[in-house]
Amino acid sequence: MARWLDGRRPVAAIVLGSGLGRLGDRLAERRELPYREIPGFPEPEVEGHAGRLVAGSLNGRALLCQSGRFHAYEGHPAELLALPIRLFAALGIRTLLLTNAAGGIRRGLRPGSLLLLADQVNLTFRNPLIGPVRPGEGRFPDMSAPYDAELAGWARAVAREARLPLEEGVYAGVAGPSYETPAEIRMLARMGADAVGMSTVLEVVTARALGMRVLGVSVITNHAAGISPAPLSHAEVMTAAAEAGGRLEGLIGGVVARL
Ligand code: HPA
Repeated sequence: MARWLDGRRPVAAIVLGSGLGRLGDRLAERRELPYREIPGFPEPEVEGHAGRLVAGSLNGRALLCQSGRFHAYEGHPAELLALPIRLFAALGIRTLLLTNAAGGIRRGLRPGSLLLLADQVNLTFRNPLIGPVRPGEGRFPDMSAPYDAELAGWARAVAREARLPLEEGVYAGVAGPSYETPAEIRMLARMGADAVGMSTVLEVVTARALGMRVLGVSVITNHAAGISPAPLSHAEVMTAAAEAGGRLEGLIGGVVARL
């Protein structure tokens, strides 16, 4: 892996959410590593292309992009979801930028909105830290600040300067793969969740255990179940994510430039 990076020292790793993979294609001086060449990485169930890590640069900063995420709903253990994050930490990367597609629960979060994650609720009933304590990870990591205040401040500043509307809120991570029922969404709203999705929370737990700082941004791709009368579909999620992709790239690009 270090040989593949060929002397580059990525300043951050970015995990690209469903429908948001284009950012990986935009990196300059790109170099790709397919998952089949990385020990322990299975092929993810992704749309369009095979899973790969992409090294390259954005706004003059060296980055490592994970294109093709592992999800609990694919049947993977929490440990596998944590593997890329542990790999990034082993490569010396201290900053993790996580993106995802999510359903909007809070009124006012419309499809296409960008949501800066302020906190999270892990409702997957899994935790990648269960088991023997791994090197560099504590037994009981603090989770009182899952998302980094400085990175969030930069995201707000970038959004302000670029006149990009940026909401803030709490992300509830569930296992999926079925979308929620209206009653489940009412429950999540009462728990304080503003958006819901099927990724991110276990990656954040892993990153915090390793002392990495994390930025999280959701693209709201749909109203959560019961908020609008329309049934939810993956096709709708992918279309909305692709449409918002340009704005997300602007936001991430601006944050990366400040790293
Ligand atoms: N629920 C769960 N995950 C999602 C949703 C949703 O409404 N939209 C995109 N990912």
